[in-house]
Amino acid sequence: MTLRIENLVTSGTFSLDGGTWDVDNNVWIVGDDQSVIVIDPAHEPARISDAVAGRTVKAILLTHGHDDHIRAVGEFRELVDAPVYLNPDDRMLWDTVYPDSSPDHEIADGDTFEVAGATLVALHTPGHSPGSTCFHLESEGVLFSGDTLFNGGPGATGRSHSDFATIIESIRSRLLTLPAETVVNTGHGDPTSIGAEAPQLDEWIARGH
Ligand SMILES: [Fe+2]
Repeated sequence: MTLRIENLVTSGTFSLDGGTWDVDNNVWIVGDDQSVIVIDPAHEPARISDAVAGRTVKAILLTHGHDDHIRAVGEFRELVDAPVYLNPDDRMLWDTVYPDSSPDHEIADGDTFEVAGATLVALHTPGHSPGSTCFHLESEGVLFSGDTLFNGGPGATGRSHSDFATIIESIRSRLLTLPAETVVNTGHGDPTSIGAEAPQLDEWIARGH
C-alpha cells in the first residue's frame, strides 16, 4: 500500500519550571491502510485513536519528553495497544509525568523503524532537551523535527535541561547536512524545509535563540 503522512493539530497545555502555557501540537501519523507509526500523540488521545481508525500502531515515537508531547501518551498507549519509544536522556522528564510507569523501549541514535515499506531513522539531536530526537523518512524526503527545528529557527532553549550551543550544534551537524529539499514537519506550527532554514543559521547564533 502507498505510504502517506497524516497531520493532526491538537490543543492543550505545556508546563515546565512552574509555568503553564496553552499550546497546539502537531501529531504525525505515518503509514498505510494496514499499519502506522504515530509520532508525538499529544493532548487528545481519543481523537488521535479515531484517526488511526483501527490500523495497527507499530510504534509510538516520542521526539522528546516535554509534557505537552507526552501527557496523553499513557492513555493513547492503552487505546491502541502499542509500544512507546523515548530516548533515555529524557527519562527525567517522563518521570515527572509518569512516576509509576516506563516507556516500553529506549531510542538510540541510528535506530530504525519500519512502516509501510519505508524506514524512519532516529537522529539524536540534543539541545531543546537532552534526549531530543528527530526522525528521518529518507525515501519521502521528510524529517520529523519535534521541537529541535521550527519554521524560523531552533526550538526553545531558555528553560531547564535545554542548551542553546548544543541545539545549534545538533542542527548544524545532523539536520542542515540533509538534502536541501527535505521537508521538515515540526512539533508545533507550519512545516518548513532544510533549504529554507539553512541560510539563517548565522542569524540564530547572533541573536542567541
Ligand atoms: Fe518541547
